[in-house]
Amino acid sequence: MFKSLSGAQIRQTFLDFYQERGHQVLPSASLVPDDPTVLLTIAGMLPFKPIFLGQQAAEFLRATSSQKCIRTNDIENVGRTARHHTFFEMLGNFSFGDYFKEKAIAWAWELSTEVFGLPAERLVVSVFREDDDAFAIWRDQVGVPVERIIRMDEADNFWASGPTGPCGPCSEIYYDFHPDRPEAIDLEDDTRFIEFYNLVFMQYNRDASGNLTPLQAQNIDTGMGLERMAQILQRVPNNYETDLILPIVQSASAIAQLDYHHCDPAAQVSLKVIGDHVRAVVHMIADGITASNLGRGYVLRRLIRRVVRHGRLVGIDRPFITDVAETAIALCEAAYPNVRAREKAINAECSWRKPVSRNPRSGGKAAGRNSRQSPRWGGDRWTGCLCPL
Ligand code: ALA
Repeated sequence: MFKSLSGAQIRQTFLDFYQERGHQVLPSASLVPDDPTVLLTIAGMLPFKPIFLGQQAAEFLRATSSQKCIRTNDIENVGRTARHHTFFEMLGNFSFGDYFKEKAIAWAWELSTEVFGLPAERLVVSVFREDDDAFAIWRDQVGVPVERIIRMDEADNFWASGPTGPCGPCSEIYYDFHPDRPEAIDLEDDTRFIEFYNLVFMQYNRDASGNLTPLQAQNIDTGMGLERMAQILQRVPNNYETDLILPIVQSASAIAQLDYHHCDPAAQVSLKVIGDHVRAVVHMIADGITASNLGRGYVLRRLIRRVVRHGRLVGIDRPFITDVAETAIALCEAAYPNVRAREKAINAECSWRKPVSRNPRSGGKAAGRNSRQSPRWGGDRWTGCLCPL
């Protein structure tokens, strides 16, 4: 059976595996993409989009990275499911017109089963409904039993970074947490299965009318969720309880004077939301984003507001984000030194203004109230008084 690895070890193991197979290890690109079609970096492939589209020559034919990503489309699921995040790290291996399906599949399987040690009988793979080549590679070259190769539709197994641009059929590897369950395999059942590795066979460009044209080259774009692999290998019930996030959750629960493992489910959700969002906020500010009413700045503002609201829901009645942010910084500074370098900016964005009076001439008393007894948090600069948190 597999051994538990820390998040940092998982990241390093992935990068080393692909480096040994001729991939150039590249640092994570910024969360602020060099791509006007998206607000934030949403996938490991984003920095390579011009290469896939043939607009830029590839410096290396193979690359590997651990890319910081932000996705907010599932924000309401954060803290409520075991695996949704706003910020996450995507481990990826990329081929720019070099290897294609056979090698990508063989290496993904070798890494998952021989290096990370996941038992083959716990793995299920999906392929795009029409992708007979991928199906045959899994069956004949890897030896996956056909009942564990599931054909799925475009919604699940055709990946694109947006409505237009590079795209292609994909094949995903799932881990089965409950092989003991007698029901038939249903990969939609996320109480049982988690998808942890997506292999995209990037071979088309989709135009604004939805037409697919073959790209100049057949490429590989993959993504392994670092937090998801950590959940599996660390044998914890959700991503928030991995070593990548739990200390942040615990820092918030200590401020709330709660014991995360023994508080009620609603409080656990709030603490998990704080853990997720503070991580996102720290990395966004470290990458130069400031809270505002527009675009990326608004995403950041919204995340900070949600942290405040969930802090209140667990009874925190004092400024607390900078304390939790310090835990998040300490946790990731070895991998991302820019977070410590931007500590001042992070503290500035995350600090509450001191309690202020509504009437500056009232000698510190809010109108009709004693501000000492009932401190106001002074129309903080992100939320403004008018916006609900
Ligand atoms: N680009 C693919 C994804 O984000 C690997 O899932």
